[in-house]
Amino acid sequence: LVFAAGKNNLNIPFIGFNSIQPQTDPGFDHVVVADGYQAKPFFSWGDPVVTGATDWNADALNSWQEQLKQAGQNHDGMHFFAFPDDNNRGLLVINHEYTNPTLHKDGITFIDGKRRLDDVKKEQAAHGVSVIEVKIDKQGQWQCVYPSVYNRRISALTIMHVSGPLAGHDLLKTVDDPAAMEIIGTLNNCSNGFTPWGTYLACEENWHNYFVNQDATDYQSRVSHHRYGISTGKTTKSYGWSSVDKRFDATPNAELPHQGYVNEPNRFGWVVEIDPFDPDSKPIKRTAFGRFCREGVTPALAENGQMAFYSGDDTRGEYVYKFVPQQRFDKTQPHKHRDMLDHGTLYVARFNNDGSGRWLPLVHGHSGLTAENGFPSQAEVLVNARAAADQLGATPMDRPEWATVNPHNLDVYVTLTNNYLRGTEFALNAANPRPDNRHGQIIKIQEDQADPAAISFQWELFVVAGEKAGTQNADGKPVAEHLVGNIEGDIFSSPDGLGFDKDGRLWILTDYDDEDPVMENMGCNQMLCANPQTREIKRFMVGPRGCEITGITWSPDYTAMWVNIQHPGLSYPASDGRTRPRSTTVLITKDDGGVIGR
Ligand code: FEO
Ligand code: CA
Ligand code: CA
Ligand code: CA
Repeated sequence: LVFAAGKNNLNIPFIGFNSIQPQTDPGFDHVVVADGYQAKPFFSWGDPVVTGATDWNADALNSWQEQLKQAGQNHDGMHFFAFPDDNNRGLLVINHEYTNPTLHKDGITFIDGKRRLDDVKKEQAAHGVSVIEVKIDKQGQWQCVYPSVYNRRISALTIMHVSGPLAGHDLLKTVDDPAAMEIIGTLNNCSNGFTPWGTYLACEENWHNYFVNQDATDYQSRVSHHRYGISTGKTTKSYGWSSVDKRFDATPNAELPHQGYVNEPNRFGWVVEIDPFDPDSKPIKRTAFGRFCREGVTPALAENGQMAFYSGDDTRGEYVYKFVPQQRFDKTQPHKHRDMLDHGTLYVARFNNDGSGRWLPLVHGHSGLTAENGFPSQAEVLVNARAAADQLGATPMDRPEWATVNPHNLDVYVTLTNNYLRGTEFALNAANPRPDNRHGQIIKIQEDQADPAAISFQWELFVVAGEKAGTQNADGKPVAEHLVGNIEGDIFSSPDGLGFDKDGRLWILTDYDDEDPVMENMGCNQMLCANPQTREIKRFMVGPRGCEITGITWSPDYTAMWVNIQHPGLSYPASDGRTRPRSTTVLITKDDGGVIGR
């Protein structure tokens, strides 16, 4: 390690700022950061991206064609890519996870059970990814660059390529794509990953919410639908796209080739590789990673070039996975890795109660992943990764969200955000120890020999979130035992986003319902900073009421940090009590120009 316990290598406090207070005011509509820092709105829903984009219309009157050139909604995972020859210039790549009713003047409307096609297209245009060039201006401030040849919007309408074991496979064929080689769009891009060869990895999380299969019998027999919770109602509950866009109705249709769109849901749940430095490149869905409700995909890179990519499947009782590419990364030839993500092994984690753990390979023909059990080939293993993981005996977790890797020792941290069904539907175990787990925990995984390709590991709970022991409710009684955590420092609930900076500080971003009475002491959602050795945790930032804080990235020298305010509830970033709220990327800098957190 380059830092000693509690200190960094400059011999100053490892966490150099003073904690801020929680914000429990129900009308709080700002972002606050620790003393000595600034946070300012940088990139909001509706901001221009592509050349020719119109300005954001405050009454949400922009058309879907205009939205296609502007920032989408619900900014989530993101990554800063520096230009190879210039650290003062980069590409900021940002996921737009989903849409809110604020996208339309009058919210979500159904007429005779149907959505308006133009509204649905606007929602599809507001999903996906933004690529935006940024640079330091003459005043030393980071700014978005307009116009830029790199600026780009990828959406639920963008044509993508498919690669890996499912490319061209029957399981991906539809009436529109009988070759199973081209997929329209990416959905519900929550967290992300990146590669050492300079590409961005957008992940597809709650894609099942966009599809419907109205044939209840077919649905029950089709693992790729029912194991993921696709709706059997008339139209999908969240958006109703299937009411006007037949691609989202996955009910089998015997009259159409490949039964119509029954396989369309199999075309989502993947990792999408995007080359931000080549604005004409087609995004690629990499199917070797397996299909589930993937939160993110976090890379680990060992000295010898061995890599692993860690992912959570964020649903109650689902699993933690890693993908280990066959090939090692060769930093002397960074561009020779174009197909590295098509070959490798997907593993799922078993967390034993004694603190040991095992990565179980999802490989056809092994450990019961056979035709008799519903897995006639590796394609079924990958499309039905959840069922394959069930078969292997993986450990059901409390909603695994982000992972992050300590750059100094390759320790892996995964957020288990919460799970109110723990102790009832899901049995307690050492890794998921609290019944009715409202506040969540962060688990630390140490691979054997710090080898990303290891098949065994040791694990421990880094922190159990929640109230301090001894806290009393308003009625003077102690808070219930299952709401008490073991935080050394400032309290929080429902850890979700995570990120390590170069000094080895662990940043924790939260996502809980700040209107829930159980969260009263937590206040608005927040970002905290942890010392991975002493476990001290300090609150650095608090967001406006109703938001979640998610997505974190830095400039190469770590003096600028970008964080996302997702779905603010009041009027942020205008904060005037009138303007509709907008998801916003916030730029954080230190007044003295120093490294954030030091
Ligand atoms: Fe999109 Fe699991 O958060
Ligand atoms: Ca999340
Ligand atoms: Ca969450
Ligand atoms: Ca979210």
